[in-house]
Amino acid sequence: MNLLICVPTYNEAENIEEFITAVFAGCPPETHILVIDDNSPDGTAAIVETLITRYPARLHLLNRPEKQGLGRAYLAAFAWGRSRGYDAFLEMDADFSHNPGYIPVMIKEIKTHDVVIGSRNIKGGGVEGWSAARNCISKGGSLYSRLVLGCPIKDLTGGFNMWTKAALDKIDLSSIISKGYAFQVEMKYRAYSAGCRIKEVPILFADRKRGKSKMSKKIFAEALINIWKIKKNIGIDTGIDQFCKFCVTGALGAVTNLLIFFVCADRFELPEIPVSIGCFMVAATQNYIINHKWSFKRNMAKGTLSLKMWLSFIAGSLLGLAANIGVMEMILLNFKLLYKFFAQGAGIAAGMAINFFVSKFFVFSNIIRKKI
Ligand code: GDD
Ligand code: MN
Repeated sequence: MNLLICVPTYNEAENIEEFITAVFAGCPPETHILVIDDNSPDGTAAIVETLITRYPARLHLLNRPEKQGLGRAYLAAFAWGRSRGYDAFLEMDADFSHNPGYIPVMIKEIKTHDVVIGSRNIKGGGVEGWSAARNCISKGGSLYSRLVLGCPIKDLTGGFNMWTKAALDKIDLSSIISKGYAFQVEMKYRAYSAGCRIKEVPILFADRKRGKSKMSKKIFAEALINIWKIKKNIGIDTGIDQFCKFCVTGALGAVTNLLIFFVCADRFELPEIPVSIGCFMVAATQNYIINHKWSFKRNMAKGTLSLKMWLSFIAGSLLGLAANIGVMEMILLNFKLLYKFFAQGAGIAAGMAINFFVSKFFVFSNIIRKKI
């Protein structure tokens, strides 16, 4: 397998020689390195040029006129490598935060996957040498991205990732919007949305010993906002806003249910059990329509309502109702509560969760895995 290790550098003169030596020492001979340097004032590129005489066929340098951000550097590297026929690409920092020792593990996994992610956030992975504050920002950022995007990848922001050529082909690199931190998130979310086979392998990320981090507050702030744009560009509703829409729909259903109940049971004094069943059916149907047209709109290949889908939605709602009653009863039987109200609250939460799950994965599961 022809692997191209892409290493963006900006002022890494203190690290680059040792880094390149370490990587070549631990990798199979068909592995090449491409350094993408943004005209570092500290002369990183000049050091790489002298090293090229030591590794003439394996080490390459792409000089860029000015600092354009990590994302742009990687895009240039991918374009360079794709036009030269490499089979796989590895993104890696030059500052030893990414231990070259993990490369063989990643090479092994890429044989059966499209994307291999060096992950700090799974068992066996972690971070060494970061302050509690930086750790908190990183974990928070990762959780935020996962929630907004509804993406199960544990380390969305990490920068130690391997891609097959096929994976990059599935991602339309020309429409990537992120320049900084969010670039990693955008790439991974696109791969996930395009149905790539993704594997996370645990890595210990070590803080750099030499040189300075180039990540700034500005890059971080840009990332927070970009997450929403990234999501919108892909066009699949997967994250927390879908759940919020689902909740609003449910609340509207409850209002409809209560209104009809009030008119029929209180005003016209009809028997409450049949009225309650009728209310349930009307409200569930209303929920089905609103969820179809709004909450799960983007999931739907076709915009048409159907009897089959309606029936499965009603079944899901009944399941939710059963869970509601079941959980409420269980709590009332096992705990002494000040108010029964709390048990019903927990029941509603359980019912809603089940209802949401059934809606998302069964009723409206017709996700268009859009070719992106
Ligand atoms: N060419 C180029 N242009 N290289 C750059 C630029 C740029 O504008 N900015 C940073 N780099 C290079 C650095 O020289 C280094 O080799 C690598 O990109 C990572 O930059 P750092 O400044 O060391 O990033 P970090 O350690 O703060 O962040 C790392 O962890 C993040 C997740 O916590 C990176 O791996 C990020 O990609 C990752 O999101
Ligand atoms: Mn770093």
